[in-house]
Amino acid sequence: MISKQEFDEFRKFLEQASGIVLSEGKHYLVSSRLSKLLQENGIGSIAELITCLKQNRKPGLREQVVDAMTTNETMWFRDRYPYEMLQQSLLPEFAERIKTGPLRIWSAACSTGQEPYSISIVVEEFLKANPGSFPRGVQIVATDISPSVLEVAKAGRYDQSAIDRGVSPERRQRFFRQDGRYWEVVPEIKSRVLFRQLNLQQSFVSLSKFDLIFCRNVLIYFSSEFKRDILERQAAQLNPGGYLMLGSSEAPTRYTDRYVMVRMPQGVIYQCKPEPEAMRVNQR
Ligand SMILES: C[S@@+](CC[C@H](N)C(=O)[O-])C[C@H]1O[C@@H](n2cnc3c(N)ncnc32)[C@H](O)[C@@H]1O
Repeated sequence: MISKQEFDEFRKFLEQASGIVLSEGKHYLVSSRLSKLLQENGIGSIAELITCLKQNRKPGLREQVVDAMTTNETMWFRDRYPYEMLQQSLLPEFAERIKTGPLRIWSAACSTGQEPYSISIVVEEFLKANPGSFPRGVQIVATDISPSVLEVAKAGRYDQSAIDRGVSPERRQRFFRQDGRYWEVVPEIKSRVLFRQLNLQQSFVSLSKFDLIFCRNVLIYFSSEFKRDILERQAAQLNPGGYLMLGSSEAPTRYTDRYVMVRMPQGVIYQCKPEPEAMRVNQR
């Protein structure tokens, strides 16, 4: 059982370390997510865990705790419309206007890889139908705070139940190779995706600029201030006319005026406005 004081202290730690806000009454979530970790580390209680974290006694413990507290729910082609929009509206538009460099896409909370690989599959299908559309190539950068999901994502191997969540038999046949009980993403799809560990609290500048950012089903875990901070820093990472794809219930216009909503035939997306001169100066 966790006391109110332990819960409050743990909540503070988690928000500082990851931005994740635990709402009141989520005591059960803390106990269930951390019980294995406490056992493995020989830590007897949440109070002792907090002391260890404060004193920085066990290397890697902080990372393990954050990892255990993340929710990594995902699936292939989640909500379908973002991928239909990518295929039918965004890729044709990018093919028309991106002439000098590669098309760059960021999957900003990629979990076990289904999101960036779904993007890569759609790109592959588009290139097959429209050869030579991106002469400088297409790069997909996929990041997450959690080292354990990134390990799965990099391996690109999924069991049947994961594949059954969103991959059609035609796509499974074309973009996966069966290896025993697992299905592995083929090299053409994998090689376009670069995975990197990144906490959204860190600077995005080293990732360089993007034409499209997928930041789906992650802002829901954060405070309004942190949402605004992420959305504004993402706007600064977008090339002129770049787009931000959020989860179906999320809207950046509630937190910042750096985006305009654009209605496409397949659904809604957000386009960044030109950066104000004052912000450009501050970021230098
Ligand atoms: C629910 S999953 C969403 C996955 C995918 N974007 C989708 O829509 O299917 C949320 C992901 O956000 C990651 N996450 C949570 N806090 C984060 C942070 N501060 N920085 C980076 N990633 C974070 C979690 O590890 C988790 O994999």
